[in-house]
Amino acid sequence: MGEVILPFILIILVYAASATNPVPKGLSYNFYDKTCPQLEDTVRAALNPVFITDPTTAPALLRLMFHDCQVQGCDASILIDVSDSAPSKPSELGAKKNFGIRKRELINQIKSRLEIECPGQVSCADIIVLAARESVAISGGPRIKVPLGRRDSLSASSSEVADASLPSSDIGVDDTLSLFAKLGMTTQETVAIMGSHTLGITHCLNIMDRLYMPSNAKASSMDPRFEALLKFSCPEFTPLSQNTSFVFNDPSTFIFDNLYYQNSLQRRGVLRIDAELPLNIKTAGIVEHFAANDDDFFQEFTSAFLKLSYAGVLTGNHGVIRSMCNFVDN
Ligand code: HEM
Ligand SMILES: *[C@@H]1O[C@H](CO)[C@@H](O)[C@H](O)[C@H]1NC(C)=O
Repeated sequence: MGEVILPFILIILVYAASATNPVPKGLSYNFYDKTCPQLEDTVRAALNPVFITDPTTAPALLRLMFHDCQVQGCDASILIDVSDSAPSKPSELGAKKNFGIRKRELINQIKSRLEIECPGQVSCADIIVLAARESVAISGGPRIKVPLGRRDSLSASSSEVADASLPSSDIGVDDTLSLFAKLGMTTQETVAIMGSHTLGITHCLNIMDRLYMPSNAKASSMDPRFEALLKFSCPEFTPLSQNTSFVFNDPSTFIFDNLYYQNSLQRRGVLRIDAELPLNIKTAGIVEHFAANDDDFFQEFTSAFLKLSYAGVLTGNHGVIRSMCNFVDN
């Protein structure tokens, strides 16, 4: 009897484990083994010197992946420029919510190298995901193995569509949970992916309302000294500097660690979502747990990152392999 039931139980367990994070059809861990075996080394070799000369690169590339994947899937649509010959072709960079997106040119540069090493094989969409993965690892975060095989879109969204798909800078906890539930993320994973804000900066533009408008976007209980610091960095009546001045997302802005959670618990979250994750009953316990346990944060972040990287992927004979990332060949 036992011999009959055990295999069934094992099958159910294995299924349950993979069902929580199934690799989409068409992606695989050995996708480029035959066509571009050195891909991951090439990406790393191209990025490592840049990470050293400009440490703001890693945060920029992680956010680039989020803003690509969130708008019509992880398909490199965010890299497409308006072409001079066809100015009606849209560019997502016109979207207000893409303000601050940087370092797209690095993906183009990596692509040029790969076109020499393995012409016509590697998608820009996969390069974006690999660059984000390298950014997390180089900053001290988890080393994430990612399935590959994404293909590139034939078009970008309009800036209006991009703005509608991306979260606004004053989004709250419930809307954030529903946003990431659409990608299959659990509450834990959603809190973990927000830990991305352990890296990088926020321009004053994105927190002016929170600092100076008496609305619910302003967290009621910001640490007063932190609020004074933010107001000092982002003064109210200097509109020109709003787009150039910025604050750090957490005190260890170039290190991928759990300080983001500790900092938010001390009421020093920069954006509304950073401030409210520790205050909402659905997420508070998870924030406290991640603040105390780096390993669990890294583990949940890894599975959340993978789910983000699976968003709306084009595989098989959908989409194309662009020969240059910033425009569509035909
Ligand atoms: C509710 C969801 C989210 C909101 C509202 C949000 C909002 C923002 C805003 C307003 C900024 C500042 C941009 C600037 O002023 O230049 C920012 C920065 C950043 N975000 Fe998010 N974000 C969210 C989720 C995510 C996710 C899921 C990731 C990564 C997977 C991410 C990664 C980053 C990174 C790394 C930065 C720093 C960028 C830099 O230094 O250039 N964010 N985010
Ligand atoms: C600042 O950026 C916002 C969002 O992209 C834009 O609408 C605004 O015109 C910019 N302001 C200045 C002074 O450049």
